[in-house]
Amino acid sequence: MATHRKIVLGICGSVAAIETPRVVRELSRRGIDVECVMTRSSKRIIHPDVLEWASGNKAITRLTANLEHVRLCGVRGEASLMMICPVTANTISKIANGIGDTPVTAFATTAIGSKIPLILVPAMHLSMYENPFVVDNIKRLKDNGVKFIEPRIEENTAKLANIDEIVDEVLNVIENEPDA
Ligand SMILES: Cc1cc2nc3c(=O)[nH]c(=O)nc-3n(C[C@H](O)[C@H](O)[C@H](O)COP(=O)(O)O)c2cc1C
Repeated sequence: MATHRKIVLGICGSVAAIETPRVVRELSRRGIDVECVMTRSSKRIIHPDVLEWASGNKAITRLTANLEHVRLCGVRGEASLMMICPVTANTISKIANGIGDTPVTAFATTAIGSKIPLILVPAMHLSMYENPFVVDNIKRLKDNGVKFIEPRIEENTAKLANIDEIVDEVLNVIENEPDA
């Protein structure tokens, strides 16, 4: 079992963000301490208070002088992994290009530099998912060790993976860490 079970969960501005509180609850039930980080767009879809209710931790909606991104995802940071669920086409492309201009992209950029495992769970219309630039950015991230939990392609939409699959993948990564 992992010796520390704190994770960072990023949330982006996809309608699938309404599923995120259930993911947080399922992880919390398994003894994982979840720290949620939100983009501004995601706050138009779910309220930070719901994530605070689900996780027991105040959601991070902006970076402060306390350097939350470094404390959690810096070298020897407190988090054993970061997942972004849902991740948008916008945030995928920013991360693939080293951009950290939102709380979520700043955390992800830090996590990659610290070699903290990063899992992305996309959700978007098929037209966005099949955009050749987005496809290239996904490949670039995969080639650099970023894990993806693949969406279900239904009704012209790349839909968020099933919650059980997401939870299992988090547990799998945490429990197979070198210091676990
Ligand atoms: C209601 C609504 C639903 C959206 N759903 C998605 C989505 O599922 N996937 C996606 O990539 N973008 C979606 N978008 C567009 C993103 O919110 C937009 O690209 C935004 O800039 C993403 O910012 P973020 O990546 O910082 O969260 C949606 C926008 C709105 C208003």
